[in-house]
Amino acid sequence: MSAGEPSERKASEAGPLAGMSMVDPELRARPNAFYRSMRENDPVHFDEKLGMYLVSRFEDLQTVLRDPITYSVERGYKAQYAKGFFEEFKQILERDGQGYFPDAIMTDPPQHTRIRRLLEKAFTAHRVKELEPRITAIAGGLIEDVAKKGEADGVREIAVPLTIDIICDQLGLDNVTRDQVLRWSLAITAQIGRMQDRDQMRDNAKDICELQNELITRMKARQADPREDMISDIVHARLDDEENPTLTFAEAVSLVRALLIAGNETTATAIGNLLFILATQPEIARELYENVEDDRYMTRFVEEMLRIEPPVRGLSRMTTKQTELGGTRLPEGAHMLLLYASGNDDETEFKDPRAFDINRSNLGRHVAFGAGVHRCIGAALARMEIKVVAREVIKRLDNIKLAAPVDEITYLPTVATRSIAKLPLTFTRRA
Ligand code: HEM
Repeated sequence: MSAGEPSERKASEAGPLAGMSMVDPELRARPNAFYRSMRENDPVHFDEKLGMYLVSRFEDLQTVLRDPITYSVERGYKAQYAKGFFEEFKQILERDGQGYFPDAIMTDPPQHTRIRRLLEKAFTAHRVKELEPRITAIAGGLIEDVAKKGEADGVREIAVPLTIDIICDQLGLDNVTRDQVLRWSLAITAQIGRMQDRDQMRDNAKDICELQNELITRMKARQADPREDMISDIVHARLDDEENPTLTFAEAVSLVRALLIAGNETTATAIGNLLFILATQPEIARELYENVEDDRYMTRFVEEMLRIEPPVRGLSRMTTKQTELGGTRLPEGAHMLLLYASGNDDETEFKDPRAFDINRSNLGRHVAFGAGVHRCIGAALARMEIKVVAREVIKRLDNIKLAAPVDEITYLPTVATRSIAKLPLTFTRRA
């Protein structure tokens, strides 16, 4: 093969990536050396144990994200979803959860275009703006309670309950417990995390049935009696220029479910990362405390945090035809994991990528929210939430420190996100 000719790679049996795989929890916990090695040596690396091509370079990610027809979300997502157990999973949902409702937003254009326009009805600038004072009140109240204790698990007692309270408020789910939402959220994300066994799949399917039954009751109530919340926005969404101007009930169920989950673990992960930075990087923490009233600073801080530690590590796509990417020939049906985290770490795009630098000229170029037609619909809301929470934490907590050695921090077992599982902290109540 001549230099520059595309190769259809299988696993590298030798070389710098030999034996490395995203199924390894140690590697998933500290992945940056692996990402760099891929970018340098084999940018579209076939991870044999995972059975996926890992897309690691910023430029190749852009190519994929700008071409949703060649690189299908729908096929990639389906191939990932409940992998190995899909038929049994579907049967459980049909039997006990009022149906199997495929994710309407995880589709390709033109179907995706209609669904996305309908879902945007729940994300108007007006809705996001209106949520800010409510989010401030929820965050302030919860952090105030924790502040008195002097110690807490930053993930389980701050980030997770906070995001659950916020998303339930946004959706209008006022009758559910935090524990339920947490179980539901983990059960759904496990379907794309690729690490569940059959018993876990059954437990997760049971939780998803409970979630669907609850959502359907609530949606029916909002159909008859709309309120100022996102469930009402979705069940009443309408596009007058479309042949099918409203969502089917199955589409609407899948969208409410998607919002509950997509807005939950991702934002909780970002808040966990914020607390981790405050506890482990005194220089960055000091600057943040000094600049908390400076809105421009806060905006740039959140952006750089999302770049350097993106909550969503990687999501899938599948090729709909044979193609070539970054020098690798991909067959039709190639299952890919788009490593947004590696794109944000790519030195050809971000100079000195491991340095936290809020003055980068290309700060907003990161792909923590993806890009192209599937770019995160909740990005404005998520940014606002993280900024509000950062402000409320800084107003109330001082001397935030890790109460465990840093190398004992573990991460949730999934390739899709890089989420701290437990974050023991100590702090004082700010005077
Ligand atoms: C820091 C928090 C968040 C991060 C890092 C994040 C990240 C992402 C990413 C990377 C995608 C692109 C998916 C792809 O390329 O296949 C995405 C899509 C999406 N996000 Fe977010 N997200 C966050 C918060 C939220 C929130 C708060 C909501 C809603 C309440 C939300 C709802 C969605 C939805 C519905 C999609 C699918 C959009 C589509 O396919 O058209 N996300 N998000």
